[in-house]
Amino acid sequence: METKTNFSLVFLVVSGIFMVIFSVPAKADDERKETNMTVYFHDYSSGGPNSTDLPVLGFPGKLWTFTQFGTLYVVDDLVTEGPELTSETVGRGQGTYVIASLDGLNAYVSFSLVFTNVAYNGSTIQILGNSDQFKAVREYSVASGTGEFRYATGYVTFETIFLDQSTSYSILRVNVSARHY
Ligand SMILES: *[C@@H]1O[C@H](CO)[C@@H](O)[C@H](O)[C@H]1NC(C)=O
Ligand SMILES: *[C@@H]1O[C@H](CO)[C@@H](O)[C@H](O)[C@H]1NC(C)=O
Ligand SMILES: *[C@@H]1O[C@H](CO)[C@@H](O)[C@H](O)[C@H]1NC(C)=O
Ligand SMILES: *[C@@H]1O[C@H](CO)[C@@H](O)[C@H](O)[C@H]1NC(C)=O
Repeated sequence: METKTNFSLVFLVVSGIFMVIFSVPAKADDERKETNMTVYFHDYSSGGPNSTDLPVLGFPGKLWTFTQFGTLYVVDDLVTEGPELTSETVGRGQGTYVIASLDGLNAYVSFSLVFTNVAYNGSTIQILGNSDQFKAVREYSVASGTGEFRYATGYVTFETIFLDQSTSYSILRVNVSARHY
């Protein structure tokens, strides 16, 4: 009798310990901060000397355009706090995208938001995803981050809010929502 009681007690204590151990990750997860921000990308894709968005590779015999499957672009856009070019610098949007659907609609993107501002200097947010590039709102995932944004997950939206066809200059509004420690 005595022994049996002790076993149930031991079981209760042991399962109690397990519950504590296994509940820790979930609790820690809830403690992540949420950061929302809106920033603006300045994109020059004319092909001229100050271009920040250029095709670097495509299929032989095909035009290297943003509607041609297989065209790979590299980007290094200025990122600012407000939509004006003269607004406070946040950092750079650097990375690549490739036209990844046969019909030329979808672009697969891999960008780092590289911060150089006071708040997040040296930190990065990694943006990954695939979206119809002609949709008014393109959504991608925040796959990870570094520095202030270690273990980040979340999502971003891209919206073209200004386009000057004659100079191929566009302003993109980028909303970031990320959870991180
Ligand atoms: C961030 O944005 C999301 C979606 O709009 C919202 O639900 C959340 O409350 C915001 N978080 C903060 C800390 O502002
Ligand atoms: C490129 O940038 C330089 C320096 O800002 C500027 O002087 C020049 O006019 C620009 N060229 C074009 C084609 O936009
Ligand atoms: C960001 O860090 C770099 C390298 O440590 C430093 O040179 C630069 O002044 C810093 N910028 C800001 C805005 O703090
Ligand atoms: C992005 O954020 C701005 C506010 O900063 C808001 O007006 C806009 O609707 C947001 N865009 C999307 C697609 O959520």
